[in-house]
Amino acid sequence: MQRLAAFPLLCVCALGQPGEYNPLYAGNSEVLVREPNRLLVEAVRNRKPGRALDVGMGQGRNAIFLAKNGWAVTGFDSSDEGVRQAKAEAVRLGLQLTASVDTIEAFAFGAEQWDLIVLTYEPTKAIAPKVVGALRPGGIVVVEDRHLDTKRVWPAGTFGDNELLSLFAGLRVLRYEDVWARPDWSVMKLDERLVRLVAEKPIPRTGGCVWEGKAVPAGGNACWETALLRCEPEGWKFTREKCER
Ligand SMILES: C[S@@+](CC[C@H](N)C(=O)[O-])C[C@H]1O[C@@H](n2cnc3c(N)ncnc32)[C@H](O)[C@@H]1O
Repeated sequence: MQRLAAFPLLCVCALGQPGEYNPLYAGNSEVLVREPNRLLVEAVRNRKPGRALDVGMGQGRNAIFLAKNGWAVTGFDSSDEGVRQAKAEAVRLGLQLTASVDTIEAFAFGAEQWDLIVLTYEPTKAIAPKVVGALRPGGIVVVEDRHLDTKRVWPAGTFGDNELLSLFAGLRVLRYEDVWARPDWSVMKLDERLVRLVAEKPIPRTGGCVWEGKAVPAGGNACWETALLRCEPEGWKFTREKCER
């Protein structure tokens, strides 16, 4: 109980009214996280940097990490203190960061704007369709939060079994985990049940095929040994014809 007394906000995950996080960010609570989210770090490791949106950026731990790694980052949060600190850190490090005080409900996500959308420990459910629409084809969403079952440990929890998969059903799942692990935002410093998702917006198929690394237009041919292949809308197809070399 000592730890709770030292941390008057009962549950960080249930907060979110504008400015509600300000006292937390203005203080030096041990619940604050400075390191970027590990799932995010791993998700972008082999990705070409592009435009990233950090939803509910807090003090900017993820936004700063992304900016350091070449991403053009936009972030917002309803906490003006969090946004102030994120901007100050970007200035201190000489990084470009677009950050504003805004709410998840009001922010204009746009259509096919982002190569990456970060949703770590954020109220995600209501905005999932907006997030999908705002991703560019080939862009990814990175989500981490508590499973409902974590209520056995701490009175918080967001997603039921496989719920994240249903929320982002239109996306291609690159990684999904449902594990007992230490959350980034932890008052109790205990393992809780977490869910993690990295999912990519599919790139629409265009006509044409590839043969030996070269583009072949729809209707084009290729020889595989003596067999003649034809590029159909769904891909290569064997013909009954023989290939003359
Ligand atoms: C647990 S913190 C997580 C911060 C950050 N995503 C991270 O992982 O470090 C939750 C943050 O979401 C913000 N937040 C909660 N509800 C919000 C809303 N409706 N609109 C904008 N920000 C919100 C809070 O102000 C707080 O900074």
